Amino acid sequence: MDCDVESLVVVVMVTLATVAMIPSAVAQLSPDYYDKVCPEALPTIKSIVNQAIIREQRIGASLLRMHFHDCFVNGCDGSVLLDDAPFFVGEKTAFPNINSLRGFEVVDEIKAAVDQVCHGHVVSCADILAIAARDSIAILGGPEYWYKVLLGRRDARYASRDAANQDLPPPFLNLSQLLSNFQSHGLDLKDLVVLSGGHTIGQAKCSSYKDRIFNDTNIDPNFAATLRESCPRPLSANDNNLSPLDSTPARVDTTYYTSLLHKKGLLHSDQELFKGDGSESDKLVQLYSYDPYAFARDFGASMIKMGNLKPLIGNIGEVRYNCRKVNY
Ligand code: HEM
Ligand SMILES: *[C@@H]1O[C@H](CO)[C@@H](O)[C@H](O)[C@H]1NC(C)=O
Ligand SMILES: *[C@@H]1O[C@H](CO)[C@@H](O)[C@H](O)[C@H]1NC(C)=O
Repeated sequence: MDCDVESLVVVVMVTLATVAMIPSAVAQLSPDYYDKVCPEALPTIKSIVNQAIIREQRIGASLLRMHFHDCFVNGCDGSVLLDDAPFFVGEKTAFPNINSLRGFEVVDEIKAAVDQVCHGHVVSCADILAIAARDSIAILGGPEYWYKVLLGRRDARYASRDAANQDLPPPFLNLSQLLSNFQSHGLDLKDLVVLSGGHTIGQAKCSSYKDRIFNDTNIDPNFAATLRESCPRPLSANDNNLSPLDSTPARVDTTYYTSLLHKKGLLHSDQELFKGDGSESDKLVQLYSYDPYAFARDFGASMIKMGNLKPLIGNIGEVRYNCRKVNY
């Protein structure tokens, strides 16, 4: 018996030691990852995002969405940026992305600039997306830094259209389906409600909200009627017409939540978060509608949670030379 206890202690100690030695089990993203290796990286990215937003305000929204679509498909690993390759069909042609995801040229521009100031391939494409998303929010939202973005992700050598179709939530889902989608990514109801606040900026195509403005009942009738003018039922010629996701689509604010209280959510999935039935989700929408500080605080916390989805760290993956292609 003595012997058994001793060997058990040894097994436990060996197990602990082994766990401690596996870098991926303890390694973490950190806010100062580039501070020593390339202190110019973050200011360079911010300046390019800033110029891009001056050229076209919507691009800030597009960059935020790109990070979300990266993280929800096999983790935040830059896979969304890969073009199709001999060994895989990439994510750009998945239903939620095709003809819709935008900002790839700005990412290329950022990558070229950081590779120049860092004298080499130092900053990963996955980190560029995380930083560009945070900078877009900060530029369109007021406070200098909404949250400190965590860094040190590496880039995937693989992308999957099937995984993108499977894992990205479509706008026709109901609340319980949206919640299970988020839970499958380790996120909860609060994350769902506060991250949907990303729709405080940007635009959606008629095809994304057509069913809602013709078939949903929990929609303000005047709001629906106005939208139907530029998004008529039978004409697919208008399917690319854009409408803002809230009434202030170039400003990060809480108008998105206020509009939900008035049944003026643009997407079916937006209005699912507020039905006026006193649910937990309703309460969060109400809170964020009147408390911009609660929104900023919780949005930052949930962005960090989303940004922590299965990052490649240590020596897994690579730092890509070109965000659209794996290294040789
Ligand atoms: C909760 C589930 C979500 C669904 C069902 C959803 C769905 C959509 C859809 C259908 C569009 C319009 C695409 C188009 O018509 O081209 C859109 C746009 C957008 N989404 Fe989401 N989304 C969700 C969550 C998020 C999250 C978590 C974020 C970021 C934190 C986000 C950020 C954006 C942004 C910024 C846009 C506008 C992009 C632009 O103007 O280029 N969305 N979303
Ligand atoms: C949500 O949609 C699923 C699938 O269509 C359905 O089974 C479920 O009953 C719906 N939930 C609610 C609350 O409507
Ligand atoms: C609305 O619902 C009907 C009946 O389910 C369906 O045929 C139609 O495609 C839906 N969407 C629009 C835009 O009418």
